[in-house]
This record gives sequence, C-alpha cells and structure tokens, in this order.
Amino acid sequence: MNIIPSDNFIGTHYIGQEEENAVIEVLKSKSLFRYDGPRLLNKSLFLEESLNSFFGIENSLVCSSGAAALKLCCVALGIGPGDEVLIPAFTFIASAGAVLSCGAIPNFLEIDESMNVDCKKIEERITPQTKAIMAVHIQGVPCNMDLILDIAKKHGLYVIEDVAQAFGARYDDYYVGTLGDAAAFSLQAGKIITCGEGGIFICKSKDGFERAKRYHDNGGKRIDNGYPIWDDPECSFGENFKITEIQSAIALEQLKKSHIIIEKQRELYCELVKGIDVTFYNLRNFPPKANPVPVSICFVFHSISMCESFIQECKKRNLEMDKYCDKILTTYTTFRMKSSWHSSGIPYTNATYQLNDCPISEELSKRTAWFPISPLLTSGNIYTIHTIFDETKDTLIGIGYPKSELSSSNLRHREFK
Ligand SMILES: Cc1ncc(COP(=O)(O)O)c(C=O)c1O
Repeated sequence: MNIIPSDNFIGTHYIGQEEENAVIEVLKSKSLFRYDGPRLLNKSLFLEESLNSFFGIENSLVCSSGAAALKLCCVALGIGPGDEVLIPAFTFIASAGAVLSCGAIPNFLEIDESMNVDCKKIEERITPQTKAIMAVHIQGVPCNMDLILDIAKKHGLYVIEDVAQAFGARYDDYYVGTLGDAAAFSLQAGKIITCGEGGIFICKSKDGFERAKRYHDNGGKRIDNGYPIWDDPECSFGENFKITEIQSAIALEQLKKSHIIIEKQRELYCELVKGIDVTFYNLRNFPPKANPVPVSICFVFHSISMCESFIQECKKRNLEMDKYCDKILTTYTTFRMKSSWHSSGIPYTNATYQLNDCPISEELSKRTAWFPISPLLTSGNIYTIHTIFDETKDTLIGIGYPKSELSSSNLRHREFK
C-alpha cells in the first residue's frame, strides 16, 4: 500500500546541505552566543536584516520561540494587568498564554467558516478594558485584515498578529505580520520555515520595539551590541528570550529557500483541490484579499457525524485525516478552572469574561477535518488521494449523506493560484 505522507513539518523537509554547512560554520567559530564570541559571525543580526528586507520593514527581532515573540508583542504595546485582549477561541494555547503571562486576560472570540476570527462578532465582545485584538492566521490562511483593522481603529485598539502558522502569506499586497501594530512568527519544527525552535517579533513603534528588545535580554540595554547595562531609567526587569547563533544560521538558510517552500505549498494545494468534488464537501472560506500559504486542506461538513464518518472512511483507506484540535480553548480545563501556576489565581482573579462562551466555534471545530499538505506529496500520492476522496464520497452518499450547495467559498478555491 502506498504510504501517503501526512505531516506538515514543512520547513523541516527542506533541511539540507546548506543548513548543515551553516551549523558547522557556527560551531567552528566557537561563537554560539549572538552578542559575543571569539569569531562572531553575526548570524542573528544578518537574519534580522534579511527579514527586514523580506518584509519591507525596519524592526525585527529573532528570539527563542513564537510564544516568546507573542509575549514581546504584549510588552511592546504595554499590555498588562487589568487589560483584556480579544483572541479567537480556535487557536494554539500559546496565543492565550502570552497574554496571561503579562497579567492580562484573554477574551475569546467566535470563528466562522474561514476558521479564523468571525469579524462580525468582534465588536460585541469589546469592553472598556479591551486593549488589543489578536488576529491569528490559522494554518496559513490570513484573517480578513481590512475588517479587523477598521474595528481596531474605530475603538482605539491595537492589533497583534499571530503569524506562527502563516509565514509568507499575503493579504492584498502585504505580508501578514506587517499589517498590525506588532506580530509574532514561529520557527518551530512544524512551521513553514524552521530552526527547530525560534521566533520572530516585529513591531511598528520604534519605542515599543526597543522596550521589547530589552525585555527579551533580561531587561538590559546594549549599546552597539556591547555588554548590557541594567541600572538605567529605560531598563525594567525582563526574561531571557534570546536566540542562539546556531538557530539563526539554520533560519537564515530556510529564509533563502522560503519562496520555493511557499510556491510548492500553493502548487500542491491547487493540485489537491482540483480533484476534490466541491459540490460535496465545503472547503474552508478564504477572505477576499487573502493569498494563503496553505499548510492543510480544511473540509467543512454539514454535521459532526458526517465529518466523523469521513475521517473514519479515509482512515480505513490509510489516509490520515484528522480534527485540527479536538477542543477549542474555551473548553480547556485550564481556562474553565482558571488554573494558574500561583495559588492566588493570578492573573485570572479579576477576570470578567465568561468561559465556554464560543458555542459556534465549538460546534464548527467538531465538523471540520484537516488534511496536512506535506511537501513530500508526489503526483502519484495526489492521484491516490483523489481516488480515496471519491470512494469516501460515494460511501457517504451511499449511507444517506446529502450533497451540499456549491458555496461561494468553494468558487474562490477554484480561482486560488
Ligand atoms: C497559532 C500559534 N501561536 C503561537 C505558537 C507558538 O509558537 P512556538 O511553538 O514557536 O512557541 C504556535 C505554535 O504552534 C501556534 O500554532
């Protein structure tokens, strides 16, 4: 039986001689720390300069993880105790964790069939404490940034972009991550480009950027990358979120390959979607100006039972198809119980939000199935996948599931290039 690759460890698959050479070069330099060493190669600095020119921006900082980068967004924007940040309920826990770790409270938002935040429902969740909206571009598909930026402007809120899963995706003519006030990318092993663990923080405000940069370096201030000073009015406490030169060396090579990686994902997505009967399955909606880097195909079913039958039928044919995550954040015990590392319950003590308050997202997450698009897929695999989808469709029709209407979202998928 043909084993069909069913992972989306995308950047990891592109690791080759270039990354190997770059790591060895750093090891030979015996300078693994980004700010000092006998023959410092400045890989981290070059990576930041390369990211600035890639995105057409001025301020980027590479750091230890996407979660750290998200925390730096909050630090840069001065988000802290008493503040609330609006976050989609359907995201990875780190989106909420970053907010909580600053002492602020995440307030959860519903998603719609784009599987990103439902922009029509943002305003009803804004309170006097709301300071920012976090736009999470799930699985490479940009949120409707026009709507989010309009709402933020109207209510005087910041926009943080969580771009952990969407490196290189565009909205209109812009890379996602460059549209809001601050953004965080992940370079973890399962991401579009990777160095195992790592993150990228970007921020429009120079002051906010400098504050977060100091925070990532134990709060210290470095002049010309020299030894930091802490006893300075500009300094605060901080944490150590620094990246190593080895991670930066790998990420730099991955960045050079990113156009190839992105094009391949788009090409595979188009090939896969061409053979999917969109009159039977609904696909996740893409917002009008979104130009995603698809890392998966998301099928949206009419019912939970139809979704589960589809997953089972695919599994019987050795095609790994799954739920993206079984639960949404509002249903996690962690949030339901307001669990904290500290017995005082900080930072939840003064939380005013209702838990379990995103029923639409909860139901939607249960009737969506995700197929990860591995860069290892061959045209033979794609042919087999189409055959399996066709057989599965026939089986589902055979047991009485109806055909769906051809939705506008499906038409958009046919146009996607
Ligand atoms: C949406 C989202 N945000 C944040 C993160 C955190 O990134 P990292 O694992 O690099 O800390 C992830 C990681 O998977 C993620 O998927």
